[in-house]
Amino acid sequence: MHQLLPMAGQTHGNRSAVTCHLKCASACAHPAPNTSTEPTFAEIARKQLSRRSLLIGTGAIAATAALPSAGLTLPSAAAPPRGLPFDPIKPMPDGVDAFVVPRGYQWHTILRWGDPLFSDSPAFDPEVPDAEAQERQFGYNNDYLDILVRSERSALLCCNHEYVNPNIMFPPTTNEAIAREQIKVTMAAVGFTVAELRRSGKGRPWRYVRGGARNRRITAYTPMTLTGPAAGSDLVRTAADPSGRRVYGTFANCAGGTTPWGTILSGEENFNGYFLANGTSAEEKRYGLTDATAPSGNSWEKIDPRFDARNPDFTNEPNRFGYIVEIDPEDPTSTPRKHTAMGRFKHEGANVRVDEDGTVVAYMGDDERFDYLYKFVARRKFRRGKSAADRRHNLRILTSGDLYVAKFSGTLNPDGYNLGRGAWIPLTLNGRSMVPGMTEDQVLVYTRLAADLVKATPMDRPEDVEPNLKTGKVYLACTNNTDRGATGKPGPDAANPRARNKDGHVIELTEHRNRADATTFAWNILLLCGDPADPAVKTYFAGWDGPVSPISCPDNLAFDSTGNNLWVATDGQPSAIKYADGLFLVPLRGRERGHVEQFLAVPEGAETTGPVIHDRDGSVFVAVQHPGEDGTWDAQQSFFPDYVAAGERPRRGEWRGPRPSVVQVTRKR
Ligand code: FEO
Ligand code: CA
Ligand code: CA
Ligand code: CA
Repeated sequence: MHQLLPMAGQTHGNRSAVTCHLKCASACAHPAPNTSTEPTFAEIARKQLSRRSLLIGTGAIAATAALPSAGLTLPSAAAPPRGLPFDPIKPMPDGVDAFVVPRGYQWHTILRWGDPLFSDSPAFDPEVPDAEAQERQFGYNNDYLDILVRSERSALLCCNHEYVNPNIMFPPTTNEAIAREQIKVTMAAVGFTVAELRRSGKGRPWRYVRGGARNRRITAYTPMTLTGPAAGSDLVRTAADPSGRRVYGTFANCAGGTTPWGTILSGEENFNGYFLANGTSAEEKRYGLTDATAPSGNSWEKIDPRFDARNPDFTNEPNRFGYIVEIDPEDPTSTPRKHTAMGRFKHEGANVRVDEDGTVVAYMGDDERFDYLYKFVARRKFRRGKSAADRRHNLRILTSGDLYVAKFSGTLNPDGYNLGRGAWIPLTLNGRSMVPGMTEDQVLVYTRLAADLVKATPMDRPEDVEPNLKTGKVYLACTNNTDRGATGKPGPDAANPRARNKDGHVIELTEHRNRADATTFAWNILLLCGDPADPAVKTYFAGWDGPVSPISCPDNLAFDSTGNNLWVATDGQPSAIKYADGLFLVPLRGRERGHVEQFLAVPEGAETTGPVIHDRDGSVFVAVQHPGEDGTWDAQQSFFPDYVAAGERPRRGEWRGPRPSVVQVTRKR
């Protein structure tokens, strides 16, 4: 059936280029925007069940059905020093529409796409697209997630909505008015949600509060402020905003971080897919802005002319996206701010570390093949006081500072599990550009080009970059890069040691003298991901030589309260190792360092995002993104989380199709 909202040649994760939809342009078959032939380290190295009755609440149905009989190397149940004990699940084959958790655990959904957030929100009705209703309901494709606990019985859920899957959201139509309403729904379904949560006591399940005082939806139309040195510059002014300081909306909100002062940082990632552009300038090409003959992929220009950057009035509109957006979830009337000082690229997210003396840094990845790892060092220091003046001060921290990009050096050894050193190369310093030939405004708006000029190290798609607040070490997920070593592309180097890297890797960084604002660091490979049962793939698990759960395509990272364990969410395993994506624990210390164990698996077509580990509470939260994304309205491939089967009557608020959802996993009492 003809889709009125054709999805352009973008994708997410590394699912097949044939069926790819809208998300991570990075992994698709089209050329990566970094066409630099910078040889990276090759030269440097030379110098040195789908049934509700079965699934809901019974996590451990697990993993007994339809498992491959050979090649699995299942871990023992011996517990590493971790906050949350569990027996690892078996890897789930691709194509199983089940949310699987360990024995002794259970799960429930907290919020699903379309759930009403406000007392006057219309009920979810996917048969009748309604943009005004969507603005009052939980959005689509939840990604970054945090659960901010305010007291034993109340919390705030904060969540990104990265993109949409119109092919499974809407019934096909040839009616022009309905088709336009569908597009408007997509503009209302992206962005961000804040929702209040309540529970009856410690260890009990969290439920969302419809009509909570702090509940909020942020969409492609929410007014925002540009801050920092590039705010107001000629590069970000449009006919509709001659000030260059007021932007409407945020979208492509991928991962993020939570600051010690209580705000959320949301990364604008694949923003380019929302614009028509001439695609002729070096700047447009470097940011993957398509030429005018290609569809934008979202058709938003049919609704709002600012999404057609060929229009001279809106040439600069794409320059107003691709930032870190800071949102104050405590104040639903606050204006979100886009921080130009932190640079413009396909921001996966941003994670903050604060040193004893209050020095604030943020680590950030640019998720594109052969793009870079960045660090922002704020000029203002964090104030630990609780006064209103302290809070006002802290809310300004990310508006000014120095921006650095990483250059790795080291030896590419035959074993692949390398170590080396690195330097943070300044792009801006003390309010000045450090890049010859570029002004500070240009560096902050065309950050990728600035990083090219200083010869930063092209990486294998930097996703989450997470500092361990217990140790100071920083963990970088390079999700995959199947172009590494291809003709005309950079080959393997010490920090990206595998050609055609389909499984990705995780790097561990140690700042010099463990100072957040150090300008040099040491690094080592923590994981070379993959299925160790595949002899064609070189894997490495931090020296652990026992069995592990197969793991591929690391994306979002988190720590538990002990700081001893890294939790890794994956995006793309079905394509890489034929198992469903999931969430994995990796001990970082002691005898079991590197002993990867799988905690949960997500349903057909889905990616695991946003992991939040409340181990002291016996809880893990994940955002299940794009379940069943390769289906159609008439042939859905996932029925998560309601699992309403054909012929089965949906209960109130349910639907016979997939709904991206935030899920809480709890230990059975
Ligand atoms: Fe949206 Fe880089 O994942
Ligand atoms: Ca990803
Ligand atoms: Ca991601
Ligand atoms: Ca994270």
